[in-house]
Amino acid sequence: MKVLIKNSEALVFPDAAGRIADHITCHQTATLGLATGGTMTPVYQELARRHREEALSFAGITTFNLDEYVGLSPDHPKSYRKDMNDRFFAHIDIDPQRTHLPAGDAPDPEAEAKAYERRIDAAGGIDLQLLGIGINGHIGFNEPSSSLGSSTRIKRLAPSTIEANRRFFERDEAMPTHAITVGIQTIMRADMIILLATGERKANAVAAMIEGPVSALCPASALQFHPNTTVILDPAAASKLALKDFYLAIHPRGEDQDLL
Ligand code: PGA
Repeated sequence: MKVLIKNSEALVFPDAAGRIADHITCHQTATLGLATGGTMTPVYQELARRHREEALSFAGITTFNLDEYVGLSPDHPKSYRKDMNDRFFAHIDIDPQRTHLPAGDAPDPEAEAKAYERRIDAAGGIDLQLLGIGINGHIGFNEPSSSLGSSTRIKRLAPSTIEANRRFFERDEAMPTHAITVGIQTIMRADMIILLATGERKANAVAAMIEGPVSALCPASALQFHPNTTVILDPAAASKLALKDFYLAIHPRGEDQDLL
């Protein structure tokens, strides 16, 4: 893994957006794997700004999001489909037909999960996967104890995830308990992965992901086997890394210069 520790939280998001912008400028028909979660908001804002002000085009881009809550229809105010439409897709020139999320209200969610995996394969797989990480080490909704060999399926949300995501729902509103999520192996098949984490509350999960044993207790630790993953952190999220000084020596200020 390449570990980039930026000098501040504010520097994490433009770095990630710049990598995505560079990739789609060079590969105008790329397939992106996208994530939801609060960490992604400034990344999508920066990409939308580049579209508006710098003519960055998404016209040929295909996207597959990681997950969707079971039971929520695409137009449900708290569905990830609506979140992505409102927060990102409405602000860029992407063809809506090329944006994909699992259908949370599918009558047979298991069948929908399998079909979603086939849709990713039929598109030729993910070129660049954007990821956040949960405080419990999840990626997508692959909660601790997930099979590291999993593909898209239904997962029950961990209590800590329900607690962490409660802020996106109204007070007293029932939270979904299950999600359709791409699997760890689905993520591992991406050619390139960019994972972002900021804030002290992510520090334990980040340390377990990068330096811990590969273990289903921290599903993100499977990324240690991925050959092309870049992790972009702020100082707080990096604060529990045993080899922090080493990463900073290789990439001063989290800059991604040539090693030699
Ligand atoms: P967050 O979620 O960006 O809202 O912290 C990340 C995740 O749960 O993957």
